[in-house]
Amino acid sequence: MGIMWVAAICFFYLRLFFAKLSTTKAPISHPAAVDSSSLRPACIITGASSGIGKATVEVLANKGYYVILAGRSMTGLDKVVEELELRHKNIMVKALEVDLTSTSSIVNFTKAVQELLDTYHGSMSLQLLVNNAGILATTERVTPEGYESLISTNYLGHYFLTRSLLPLLQRSRVPARIVNVGSFTHLCVQNFDGLFSLLLRREVQKRMHSSKVPVYQIAYIYETSKLFMVMFTYELHRRLSTGTLPMQVTAVVADPGIVQTAIFRELPTWFSTCIFILLRSAFLLQSPTVGCKAVVNAALAPPSVSGEYFFGGEGCRVASSTLSYNTQFAADLWNLSDKLFNDAVCRLRTL
Ligand SMILES: NC(=O)c1ccc[n+]([C@@H]2O[C@H](COP(=O)([O-])OP(=O)(O)OC[C@H]3O[C@@H](n4cnc5c(N)ncnc54)[C@H](OP(=O)(O)O)[C@@H]3O)[C@@H](O)[C@H]2O)c1
Repeated sequence: MGIMWVAAICFFYLRLFFAKLSTTKAPISHPAAVDSSSLRPACIITGASSGIGKATVEVLANKGYYVILAGRSMTGLDKVVEELELRHKNIMVKALEVDLTSTSSIVNFTKAVQELLDTYHGSMSLQLLVNNAGILATTERVTPEGYESLISTNYLGHYFLTRSLLPLLQRSRVPARIVNVGSFTHLCVQNFDGLFSLLLRREVQKRMHSSKVPVYQIAYIYETSKLFMVMFTYELHRRLSTGTLPMQVTAVVADPGIVQTAIFRELPTWFSTCIFILLRSAFLLQSPTVGCKAVVNAALAPPSVSGEYFFGGEGCRVASSTLSYNTQFAADLWNLSDKLFNDAVCRLRTL
């Protein structure tokens, strides 16, 4: 896993080098950030209690966004709100709870966002959604709804959240933006074999109860969750730009590179410390303040930049893996995720 991931990031830096030589960088301005005097732009950042999400909150709040910090622990979110309000006097931030592994939590979160926007009587609109939350689990776990927890947190929960929030984003008077946080690790997925089974509840449950199951490869599931995020973004972009969905929303991927955060929290401390020392000495490790630049650039890039992969800060974009541009698989992934979303919402209604 380690060697493959280092090879993948080095490959991406090489691509970045050539991209810098040959392509233009997206100018860092967005109507949402400029229009704040007449219409307060609101944004949602998932996984805002730590790491890249927390660093992104600080930058966007200082650019005039009303930032909704979304996360599963209100204690963690409240601490960040308190810390930011102490450091910056004029920012507007609000913590709202959402657990991405729970459809009812996502539905309740959407209602809470709607109620919050209603209290501003049209003077505030949701203009940005940053799907950032993620885990790197070291054991296989099943969510209460029967999904594989890593896939559910990193991909499926964000798909559900996006579908749930899309009507609010579409009401924005300026083109709204969805930023999906991806990772260079998606390059390690070599083919599509068996990927859909990671999304199907019965397949996940069968695998976990069977002694014949091959040894669980957590890195592979993480890489797959990130490939799904990239393909979901491209498919969303295609649907928005071909009129299948209204075009007031654009979608991009942001890859922060390697960042020193709590993402390795499930690994033994000595092990993650060694990894960080090695990565730092190879000049590959960044702080969250630096790592969040790709996310911020992706959020603030103009609406004309949609369906692209941001990496390396300064508005730079690179190509993702060849596999990620497969339109047939992306459409199938969308259709399956959509069915799971509709089924989950129906199940909730019958409760
Ligand atoms: N760090 C890197 O090198 C790196 C590289 C490439 C991509 N990324 C991606 O960047 C994103 C942010 O990761 P990070 O490095 O900043 O890690 P982090 O510090 O561990 O932050 C992850 C955030 O996700 C939240 N979260 C986890 N499960 C959740 C759930 N079920 N519902 C809602 N929120 C949940 C966590 O909340 P709790 O505090 O409650 O756990 C935390 O706020 C992830 O998508 C990750 O895959 C990271």
